[in-house]
Amino acid sequence: MNPSKHQNAPFGSILTDKMAVASFRDGAWGEAEIRVTGPLEIHPAAHALHYGSSCFEGFKAYRRADGSIQIFRMDRHIERMRQSARVLVLPEPDPVLLASMVKTLVDRCRDDVPETPGSLYLRPLLFGTMPNIGAAATPSTEAMLVVLASPVWDYFSGGMKPLKILVEEVAQRCAPHLGVVKTGGNYAAAMGPTLAARRQWGVDQVLFCPGGEVQETGASNFVLIRDGELLTRSLDSSFLHGVTRDSLLVIARDLGYRVSERVFTVAEMLDWVKTGEAALSGTAAVLAGVGTLVRAGVEYKVAGGDVGPHTRKLRAALVAVQQGEAADRYGWLTKV
Ligand code: COI
Repeated sequence: MNPSKHQNAPFGSILTDKMAVASFRDGAWGEAEIRVTGPLEIHPAAHALHYGSSCFEGFKAYRRADGSIQIFRMDRHIERMRQSARVLVLPEPDPVLLASMVKTLVDRCRDDVPETPGSLYLRPLLFGTMPNIGAAATPSTEAMLVVLASPVWDYFSGGMKPLKILVEEVAQRCAPHLGVVKTGGNYAAAMGPTLAARRQWGVDQVLFCPGGEVQETGASNFVLIRDGELLTRSLDSSFLHGVTRDSLLVIARDLGYRVSERVFTVAEMLDWVKTGEAALSGTAAVLAGVGTLVRAGVEYKVAGGDVGPHTRKLRAALVAVQQGEAADRYGWLTKV
């Protein structure tokens, strides 16, 4: 494919024509194969279809000027998928097998990796295939592991347009012990409140703050930034431990920001954004600036309503490492 011709397609809507597939049966992973991207044969009694035993990952590969391709923090994403599998009692993907599936797929789809600022979004998916509709409290002993690839550009249409976010203090994004798991059910749970908020308030996303404590949005982590300081919620099981969040904290510390990871309230956030900035972080979102918060029907401008200088600076520093314009000081890149 000529990926640049899909530059205006919605994020994730274009797939490469190849995918990697492996199956777990009789207690072991079989060999992976590269197949034409298309429908899989799944038994209608498959565990994932009834009891939600599925999880996924999302990370990106970037094209360099010299034609080489670099995958950003693949190992960390594979580890997170293994953790998701453990919580959902699914067969854990063998890290060597999954890394080899990803690298082989990227190599076979080299021509589909866009020039920067585009990238190839990689989407490993694991789901329980055991055909047993009675197995509500019994784990799936069979599973399928698939890796899809999609040429992508901006996740939020409008590029660096400041986002409008609803502050939701009652509804939760998902069950508190599952926030740490990247499973489809969490996104399904956030969809109703997000669509309702879009309709009623014209917002882009919902920031879930159950009990008045700031947590995360439907598909991204949340950070506050101001001169020399970055604040984000400390890790617990209630929200996703973003790899972009982790990368950002490392880079922010390197750039001299004092990084605080702790619980903070909506009241503290509203005070912060009188002069400070707010942003969403994630593989898809990268670091997307917030311009407006809507809380209890009142709109609060975040640092004047535009994407602020600290958000721009940290985003640029992160993107420079991802795209190879800055040194890979932490060994975050895997060359294909
Ligand atoms: C990611 O940032 O990789 C995500 O999971 C967002 C995705 C739901 C589009």
